[in-house]
Order: sequence, then C-alpha cells, then structure tokens
Amino acid sequence: MTAKVKIRQRQDGTFEVERFTPLRRIEHLMVILTFVILVLTGFPQKFYDTSWAAWALNMCGGLDSARLIHRVSGLIFSFHLFAHLAGIAIGTLAHKLTLSLLPTTRDIRDVFATLGYYLGKRSTAPAYPKFDYRQKFEYIGIVLGGLVMVFTGLMLLYPGIVAAILPGQFIAAAKVAHTNEAMLAFLVLLIWHVYGSHFSPEVFPMDKTIFTGYITKEELKHRHTLEFARLFPEESLD
Ligand code: HEM
Repeated sequence: MTAKVKIRQRQDGTFEVERFTPLRRIEHLMVILTFVILVLTGFPQKFYDTSWAAWALNMCGGLDSARLIHRVSGLIFSFHLFAHLAGIAIGTLAHKLTLSLLPTTRDIRDVFATLGYYLGKRSTAPAYPKFDYRQKFEYIGIVLGGLVMVFTGLMLLYPGIVAAILPGQFIAAAKVAHTNEAMLAFLVLLIWHVYGSHFSPEVFPMDKTIFTGYITKEELKHRHTLEFARLFPEESLD
C-alpha cells in the first residue's frame, strides 16, 4: 500500500512529491528574512568602528533605527521560534507529526558509512531517510542556536528585569554569548548551508525544494531512498 502523500505531474510527464507543506515553506522564508535583517542590523553594532558598519548604519537610518529594527525583528524571530516548537510539540502529541528531523542511532551509522563512501571504502553512499544526518544537524543547530540568540537577546532587551533577579555579570555574559553565537550562526549558514543547498554537486546550482515544496520522484529515490521506499513500497522493490 502507498503512504498518503501529495503527488503532481510535471510538464515533461514525470511526477513530483510534496516534501514541504506551505506552512514549512513560509517558515523558511520567515527565517531567511528575519535572520538577514538581524545580521544586517546586528553586525554593524558589533563592528561599529569599521567603515562598512558606518555605511550599513546609515542605510538603516542611523544607529537608533538600526537598534529598533534589530529589536523588532528579534521579537518576531523569538515568537516564530516558540510558535514553531509549540506546533511541533502539539502536532507530535496529537499524532499528526513524526519527528523526522530528530537524530537517531542510524544517523551515526550513516556518518561513518558516508565517510567510508567518500574515502572509497564503499561503492555506494548509504540509503538516507526523509532527512539525512547533515540536514538534521543543521536543523537542530538552528533551533538550539536560535534559543541561545533569543534568551540572550531578551536579556539584552530587558536588562532591568534580569538585574532584579540575577547578578549583573549575567548581562555581560549574555552579550558575549549573543555576539559570538551570532558570528557562529552566520558562518555556519554562509559556509555549510550555502554549500549544502547551492554548491554541493548533488544540487548545483540550487536546491529549490524548500521554495517549491516539491521534489521529483527520481531525486527522492536517489537522495532519500528510504523515504522513497516508505512512500512507494511497490516501486522500490526493484
Ligand atoms: C538570530 C539572529 C541574531 C543575530 C545574528 C544577532 C546579532 C546581534 C549582534 C551582532 C549584536 C551586537 C552585539 C555587540 O555589540 O557585540 C546584537 C545585539 C543585540 N541583539 Fe541581536 N541578534 C540576533 C537575534 C536577536 C534576538 C532574537 C533578539 C531579541 C529577542 C536580539 C536582541 C538584541 C539586542 C537587544 C541587542 C543589543 C543592542 C541593542 O540594545 O539594541 N537579537 N545582535
């Protein structure tokens, strides 16, 4: 029996399968938008004594408006993260979602099997499930890194409340964590994510699945073989 999944026919007669619902696609666009704004308004504050920071702050309408834009988009980012996690928790409890991005012991085996393949010790890469270990690592990294940014950002936004509960050093520590995690997140996205979704030979010049929501059956079979077998057991017998 075939699992329930949305399938549509392409102009060339081949079929494609829904991989991301409209909600997930909108969420991805939201993350791009808020993250880019947070980077563009946050880093000029960190590197305030450079000429490009002065230019960037001017583009934002000055330091005060850059800070305001950063705070408002930071609150939107925070709301989005909590709404996303709440949605996952409710969906899982109601048995409407499976946690396909949660790492399992299979992912550890896949890491070694993939390395073996890259080093020529195996003739094929392992068969990956709906999300491979690299995609899971990125997702968990965004969620955990996002939580660090949100908690430290809120501490910087409301220092009076924090100081009433905790020693003042916590605010200084929050600033160190916020600014360094921002750099880490920026570099991971720039290097890892851009490589994975643009420059990797499997997807070059661009993996559009997260924007269109659909992946061709051929690609699904090749890149996420176990998911293909789950969705189309009869076709995967060969
Ligand atoms: C997730 C992406 C984010 C990035 C890349 C980012 C980046 C930065 C950077 C680089 C700074 C300057 C720190 C310094 O001066 O050394 C900063 C400051 C700050 N950020 Fe963020 N941030 C992010 C998220 C947030 C969030 C979610 C919030 C709030 C909920 C927030 C609130 C603040 C506040 C309040 C400051 C201090 C500057 C001010 O008072 O306006 N940030 N951020």
